[in-house]
Amino acid sequence: MKEKILVFDTTLRDGEQSPGASLNVQEKVEIARQLEKLGVDIIEAGFPASSPLQLEAVQRISAESGAVVAALARSVENDITASWKALQHARKPRIHTFISTSDIHIAGKFASERYGVSLAEKRKTVLKMAVDAVSFAKTFTPDIEFSAEDAGRTDPAYLAEIIEAVIAAGATTVNIPDTTGYTWPFEFGAKIAHLCTAVPNIRNAVISVHCHNDLGLAVANTLAALQNGARQVECSVNGIGERAGNASLEEIVMALKVRSDLHNFYTDVVSEEIYNTSRMVSTFTGIIIQPNKAIVGDNAFSHESGIHQDGMLKNRETYEVMTPESVGVPQTSIVLGRHSGKHGLKSRLIALGHDLADTELEAVYQRFVVIADKKKEVYDDDLRVLMGDELGKSQSSFELDYLHINSGTASIPTATVRIVHDDRVFEESATGDGPVDACFRAIERALGIDSMVTSYAVRSTTAGRQALGEALVRIRDRGVSFNGRGVSTDIIEASARAYLQALGLRQHHFENNSTETIDNGV
Ligand code: KIV
Ligand code: ZN
Repeated sequence: MKEKILVFDTTLRDGEQSPGASLNVQEKVEIARQLEKLGVDIIEAGFPASSPLQLEAVQRISAESGAVVAALARSVENDITASWKALQHARKPRIHTFISTSDIHIAGKFASERYGVSLAEKRKTVLKMAVDAVSFAKTFTPDIEFSAEDAGRTDPAYLAEIIEAVIAAGATTVNIPDTTGYTWPFEFGAKIAHLCTAVPNIRNAVISVHCHNDLGLAVANTLAALQNGARQVECSVNGIGERAGNASLEEIVMALKVRSDLHNFYTDVVSEEIYNTSRMVSTFTGIIIQPNKAIVGDNAFSHESGIHQDGMLKNRETYEVMTPESVGVPQTSIVLGRHSGKHGLKSRLIALGHDLADTELEAVYQRFVVIADKKKEVYDDDLRVLMGDELGKSQSSFELDYLHINSGTASIPTATVRIVHDDRVFEESATGDGPVDACFRAIERALGIDSMVTSYAVRSTTAGRQALGEALVRIRDRGVSFNGRGVSTDIIEASARAYLQALGLRQHHFENNSTETIDNGV
């Protein structure tokens, strides 16, 4: 008998905690739809208490998703109430509450004497808070997940005690996070095995694991946990997440699928949807996938050396343990052009995971026609960035109305910009080291701000001289990063749009967030 492994996707929660990866509500809804198509069992849609936008995103996803929708909450009543407010219309709601359990976290986060004076007293307080949180969450819905934050570094006996107590209080899933990505696979596997024997009521809950990738061991640790009794894996598309990220969904799923000879597990993930999902997440978050990334990197199925190419021609299995088709990497590129029409565009967008309403399609079509006129051939990756640009625009409040650049080998680069914001017009000129620098300086001068740019990259979406240029700009203000993306056949214009989008996200964030940063502590 095969055993099902539940796939809990946290791209929209932990993944969104990647530096700069803030997604707007519409982008999250779009990704959630694709995750459902991918076949994940649980979508962790956000952390509602952390901001009104997070709450709105969880609400919107709850309203339409057929998957279990989870919302994160610290072990305090306010957070749990906010999670329920966001989840109440979900078909299958799950409250996911967590508290730190390692001594290092307890000593740091619960330093105040109101939690106790000695470490032993503080541990007792944490245990009571965990149990109270689960009991309180249980008054809203039966499906409750509890996470022991930093379980990877938690004393095994105390971890067993707290897990037993939260299961007794009604937790139906107990998650064991390696929050700091510190453990080795044999060690993490043994931790799970220990819980299976030391916790008398462990069979009343599903054991879940949530591994971070600080030492590059997140996927290996997750697989070790499965061998030792875990039956839910928490992971994110492209492995994005805090710091070095989370265990990558596509790597876990394909490791299980390709090596099905080693175990009795299966997941319900439709592996052919992996590529589309990966590209959508990368485009919307602005987090570029490294070329040698397993499964979804550009080079994952490229064979460079003559010996390898020769082997591949004779038998693909010589150098490939899975086919590109099995993860949805397209083998032929479908090209649209100016004569493709709205219908052609719509069906191509559906194939890429975007099923748009008529008004949305009209807006994308108008952009498509302009691009198709300029560059003749429009590829899937062009459409992806176009979609990302359209959805990203919705909350950007700075519109580039006019841009003029003067640049050349014998002149000082000069830029003039006109920006419209809340019906006001800002116009300025500036010189710079190059045209992009001049353009950014003109924007800063027009808006009266200091430079906030911490990183800037420009790339082409496809090969060829007429490729669309995609600019990615990251800015940082008051400890929070924002990614902006701009797309155009003109890379200076794309850069200006990207900077303005990042500035729009920043404005939106500080207008809508009660807290400036998401604080996972209590
Ligand atoms: O890494 C972690 O411990 C978490 C928990 C909130 C599950 O993200
Ligand atoms: Zn995490």
